[in-house]
Amino acid sequence: MSASIDLTTAIRSIPDYPKPGIIFRDITTLLGDAVAFRQAVDELVAPYKALGIDKVAGIEARGFILGGALAHQLGAGFVPIRKKGKLPHQTVRMAYSLEYGTDEMEIHVDALKPGEKVILTDDLIATGGTAEGAVKLIRQLGAEIVSACFVIDLPEIGGRKKLEALGVEVRTLVEFAGH
Ligand code: PRP
Ligand code: MG
Repeated sequence: MSASIDLTTAIRSIPDYPKPGIIFRDITTLLGDAVAFRQAVDELVAPYKALGIDKVAGIEARGFILGGALAHQLGAGFVPIRKKGKLPHQTVRMAYSLEYGTDEMEIHVDALKPGEKVILTDDLIATGGTAEGAVKLIRQLGAEIVSACFVIDLPEIGGRKKLEALGVEVRTLVEFAGH
C-alpha cells in the first residue's frame, strides 16, 4: 500500500466566493485527483465495512458523488436526498435552515424501509442545517442513521455539534478554520 497523502492539499480554496469574506472549499480538485479521491473514499468507508449497512444516503449535489462510491464499496444501495421538486415519485419533504433563510429537501417515500441501517454523506458540514434536515428525513421513514460522514468540517461553525446533539455519530476527514 502506498503512503497516504494530506487530503487538505487536494482541496482548492477560493477566496471571496460566493461572496466577499467567504472562502469556498472546493472538492472538485480532490474528485479529479485519482489518488486523493480513492483515499478519501477508502478513509470514509473503512469503519463501516462490518456494520451491515443497507443504504448510503447522499445529499445533492456533491454528496451524490461520494455516496455512490461509498455504496459501491459497502455493497449497499444508494438513496438521493434532493432539493424540492426534483424527485419524480411520491416524496417526504423537510424544511431545513440555510445561512440565510430556509429551503426544502425531499426523499422518495419508499427509498428506505423501517429499520434499515443508513450512512449519510455530503462533501462538507458547516452550520449542519442541511445534514440535520437529511437526518430528519431518514428518521421519518423509520430507518436507522448509523453515522454521518463528510470530507470537510468547518468546526468553528458548529455543524458537527448540532448533529451530535441529535444523537448522530459524525466523521470528517479534514478541518478548515474560519467560515
Ligand atoms: C453546501 C455543501 C453542503 C452544505 C453545508 O451545499 O455542499 O451540502 O452547503 O452547509 P450547512 O452545513 O451550513 O448546511 P449547497 O447548499 O451550497 O448546495 P450544493 O451542494 O447543491 O451546491
Ligand atoms: Mg451541498
